[in-house]
Amino acid sequence: MNPKVYLIGAGPGDPDLLTVKARRILRSADVILYDRLVSSEVLAAANPRAEFLYAGKHAGEQEAVQQWIFEQLTEHARRGRVVVRLKGGDPCVFGRGGEEWATLRERGIEVEMVPGVSSAIAVPGLAGIPLTYRGVSRSFAVITGHCCGETETDWTRYAGIDTLIILMGVSERARIARALIAAGRSAAEPAAFIERGSTPDERTVIATLGEIAAGRVNVEPPAVFVTGEVVRLRQRLHDCSCAPVALAC
Ligand SMILES: C[S@@+](CC[C@H](N)C(=O)[O-])C[C@H]1O[C@@H](n2cnc3c(N)ncnc32)[C@H](O)[C@@H]1O
Repeated sequence: MNPKVYLIGAGPGDPDLLTVKARRILRSADVILYDRLVSSEVLAAANPRAEFLYAGKHAGEQEAVQQWIFEQLTEHARRGRVVVRLKGGDPCVFGRGGEEWATLRERGIEVEMVPGVSSAIAVPGLAGIPLTYRGVSRSFAVITGHCCGETETDWTRYAGIDTLIILMGVSERARIARALIAAGRSAAEPAAFIERGSTPDERTVIATLGEIAAGRVNVEPPAVFVTGEVVRLRQRLHDCSCAPVALAC
């Protein structure tokens, strides 16, 4: 049999949001390399006799850890073991899943992709914020909030999109909000941060872009930052238990 790796999306945290296929493969896995955002409840759904290898990355060590991940995946797959690369959400949404897939293929290793429920789509929905809504939002974009030197995001490109979903945007939230206002969005536009979506610790903070730009909103990562008129719909769709900075919601 050809060496093979399953590239699996673990969803946003709630183990009930694992796909049926992901759960089935996890039950038969021999080796599981998992990322920081994979919840312990999801890992509990896997074969308890599997070898669990933590592959989370911290600032400054990303490339070294990535090389280690490639070596582990390659070695275990070549030994004929059932190898799972398990990533939070969907592996191909800001998860470097495509890069890992390409490298493994270059090494002659087959990859089977098992998509996951991405936090970008699911977490706002769970919080009662639909990304599209007739008459309110006809478009959305998912953008990284990481700023990395020369690949700095040009926020003017996204200013006209109805709903913006920003991942990894907590630490840069004030700068992002200022850039969006400078690009033409209203300071009164409602925005939400949903921390630890789909877990028992989920918390939603509602504010305006202006309040975020002024540094008046406290949020802890991981959180999905969503901005646009759809945020107002939460009041209609969900019971409201917003944090203090909140708009009347
Ligand atoms: C490196 S990206 C990975 C995204 C992942 N591949 C996905 O599809 O959800 C990590 C970012 O996703 C968001 N995120 C992931 N899981 C989350 C959750 N359960 N609640 C809130 N935000 C989450 C946060 O913005 C976090 O900084």
